[in-house]
Amino acid sequence: MTKDSVLAALLQSKNYISGETISRSLQISRAAVNQAVKTLRAEGYEIESVTNRGYRLLSSPDRITRGALEAILGCGRMDHILYFESTDSTNRRLQEYVLEHPDAPNGLIALANEQTAGRGRRGRSFASPKNMGIYLSLLIRPESFGTDPASPANWTALTSWTAVAICNAIENVCGMRPGIKWVNDLLLDKKKICGILTQMDMETETAEIRDIIIGIGVNVQEEEQDFPEELRSIAGSLYQAAGKRLSRSALAAEMIRELDALCAAWPEGHAAYLSQYRKDSLVTGRPIRVITASGEKEAIAERIGDDFALHVRYPDGTTQELRGGEISVRL
Ligand code: BTN
Repeated sequence: MTKDSVLAALLQSKNYISGETISRSLQISRAAVNQAVKTLRAEGYEIESVTNRGYRLLSSPDRITRGALEAILGCGRMDHILYFESTDSTNRRLQEYVLEHPDAPNGLIALANEQTAGRGRRGRSFASPKNMGIYLSLLIRPESFGTDPASPANWTALTSWTAVAICNAIENVCGMRPGIKWVNDLLLDKKKICGILTQMDMETETAEIRDIIIGIGVNVQEEEQDFPEELRSIAGSLYQAAGKRLSRSALAAEMIRELDALCAAWPEGHAAYLSQYRKDSLVTGRPIRVITASGEKEAIAERIGDDFALHVRYPDGTTQELRGGEISVRL
């Protein structure tokens, strides 16, 4: 592709390289060079252009490539990673893949550089601009574990384990550990940097869970203006929290390594994941608001139960164990 050849020429040249030289060496027109530079800039490459000197590559976008992932994870793991430059939603991609390939294995990953219709919880959308975040979905096949596939309760803990696994990955790569806002939002500096959406496919007749897809979205490179105005006070990125650029490939690879470790530990590792979740929890002991379809109620978040339920106490003294839903908390 012309664009790739022009990029290679820019990467090879330590200094300025004229459009004329690129056009001669690649045997393409000057207009084609200009067009390729325009496309590369739109993809995030910073290319300086100076009259009588030519072009100079100042910086490259932080790209997730199969090559970079393979260098970290090894080629065997890559056989079970579907990579998309752009897709609607990695959760949806994986759902469709499983329908077409009924023997798709446990641990299969869908990973994208951009989602055009990223899904959030409660039917919300999840902004997933290109070159910014990590948009990843993991396929879990209950039958490949020893636990009972007919017990949804067993499997809801899996999403809480996932929150711990992603905190581990972020800490390993960035040196900062996010906190968990129940149920599964990860926060740094009081701002949400990661959301998790788990979808299960259950066969109604047998009550067996056929597959589980855990979708994870991490904001990595965003600056304040990259978030929609209404989200700026509540959404943040790893770049904002760390004050430095991180490699998305390195983080994606570490997330996959942690998710593989989670699968290897399920279900025997329950005590270790629960204990870490309790340490990471940002809400325990705080006043919260429990949000339901019928409205909002004030409560105190007392503790995380053994099954990751949030135990809350209302002002009238009554208590409740929340196993799903939404809360708000002032941190
Ligand atoms: C939320 O916070 O509401 C959950 C957000 C989950 C977003 C991830 S990004 C990868 C996967 N694909 C999706 O469409 N959604 C999840």
